Amino acid sequence: MSNPNAIEVENVTREIATGRQLVKILKGISFAIAHGEFVAIMGSSGSGKSTLLGLLAGLDAPTAGRIALDGVDITHLKEDEMARVRGEKVGFVFQSYQLIPTLTAEENVMLPFELSGREGNGTGRARQLLEQVGLGDRMDHYPVQLSGGEQQRVALARAFMTQPPILLADEPTGNLDTVNGRVVMDLLIRLNREQGTTLVMVTHDQELSRYADRVLTLRDGLLVSDERKGQ
Ligand SMILES: Nc1ncnc2c1ncn2[C@@H]1O[C@H](COP(=O)(O)OP(=O)(O)OP(=O)(O)O)[C@@H](O)[C@H]1O
Ligand SMILES: [Mg+2]
Repeated sequence: MSNPNAIEVENVTREIATGRQLVKILKGISFAIAHGEFVAIMGSSGSGKSTLLGLLAGLDAPTAGRIALDGVDITHLKEDEMARVRGEKVGFVFQSYQLIPTLTAEENVMLPFELSGREGNGTGRARQLLEQVGLGDRMDHYPVQLSGGEQQRVALARAFMTQPPILLADEPTGNLDTVNGRVVMDLLIRLNREQGTTLVMVTHDQELSRYADRVLTLRDGLLVSDERKGQ
């Protein structure tokens, strides 16, 4: 790959007008993430972590500044171009799982594959992913028939479906018990180490952040610490 960085963020701000007030959610953030890095994003509630992740995924646009994925500036892309770049480069696990309620677990996992217009049939892979997250016996269940933790694991399988080079995960284990949290964490770490997937994970969990190569900490819309692990 010609560009050494999977993600580049330059002087990014995000302001939202609510009524008469202008809320400055991100106040000028810059960093770069290399291909294959595992970065944890930490910071207290409301510090801007989910907002930042949404910008990296191109789900939202910055008020000012520049964001590039794999050397491609996504800041000024039209919606259809953005959708294409997102489909090629990014998998996203939301803080609230955002499964489609009218689709079964298996159909939800298949969705990004079908949207990307890829050749062939993804059923085998979708089933394998659901087995891996421990939901082999829940494939035909609809989201309302699944617990929160199970929905989160379906959302993870869905994010892995197209084997994106960049995976953005917003508190992927936040709603899971210890055992299932471990299953999900192991999957994420394996994806990062074995497939070289660049992994950006928001977490409140100090324990989990230990697995990361690097920890970025946000406070009140600013990047206040960028800590690299020595090993
Ligand atoms: N659409 C919006 N309109 C107005 N304010 C918003 C909007 N979205 C987010 N905010 C505000 O921006 C701040 C950052 O929100 P964000 O969701 O990024 O926080 P977070 O760090 O992910 O928090 P948490 O750990 O609780 O998930 C919050 O104070 C929030 O109220
Ligand atoms: Mg959040």
